[in-house]
Amino acid sequence: MSAQKPASWAYSEDFIAETEVIEKARSRSEELGCIPVMPGVGAVLRLLAAAVNAKAVVEVGTGAGVSGLWLLSGMPTDGILTTIDVEAEHQRAAKQAYAAAGIAPQRTRVITGRALDVLPRLTDAAYDMVMIDADKAEYPQYVEQALRLLRTGGVLALDNMLWRDKVADPATRDETTTTLRDLGKALRDNDSLLPALLPVGDGVLAAVKR
Ligand SMILES: C[S@@+](CC[C@H](N)C(=O)[O-])C[C@H]1O[C@@H](n2cnc3c(N)ncnc32)[C@H](O)[C@@H]1O
Repeated sequence: MSAQKPASWAYSEDFIAETEVIEKARSRSEELGCIPVMPGVGAVLRLLAAAVNAKAVVEVGTGAGVSGLWLLSGMPTDGILTTIDVEAEHQRAAKQAYAAAGIAPQRTRVITGRALDVLPRLTDAAYDMVMIDADKAEYPQYVEQALRLLRTGGVLALDNMLWRDKVADPATRDETTTTLRDLGKALRDNDSLLPALLPVGDGVLAAVKR
């Protein structure tokens, strides 16, 4: 690896600045102890939402609203974000952030509950994009649901797929790392997907459903 790489990654991460509202949501996330997506990841989420003209998006892991704000800024103005989190307090903060960004309340469907209880209730092939950022141990089950929810041509995005630089190190075999490493390979080898593993933030695996 060239010595330039870390500098280039840092440069890319800060290349697109966060809005003031997103910066505030980031501070609130940190107070609440939930780690929001990095700015470079947010920019990728916005790009993907805009590229597929995502009118219906599911987000697993609302947090205090950082990733939701990025997604909403890439979606058309009539697009609806369905966002799931088990922590009502996180979602209260997210709703405040959406309001501060001028997002109309009817553009967000905020569902409090465990993702694996909520996702099976959502409609098959009705979504343009699914973004996953909740309990790492449950990622494989979230993906199973996401592939059912996505329309053909829809896009899946998973954060933390390089998991603190552990996934790339074959000697690291703790449970979370192994789950994410195996999941990444399964998505790579799934013929119904066109995937890419992006070394942005903590690693975004994005895939289009064929
Ligand atoms: C990393 S934070 C999400 C950050 C958010 N995506 C952002 O960028 O602002 C993970 C979130 O997943 C939620 N979570 C954890 N386990 C969950 C589960 N089983 N079902 C739903 N949400 C869960 C946590 O409460 C937390 O808010």
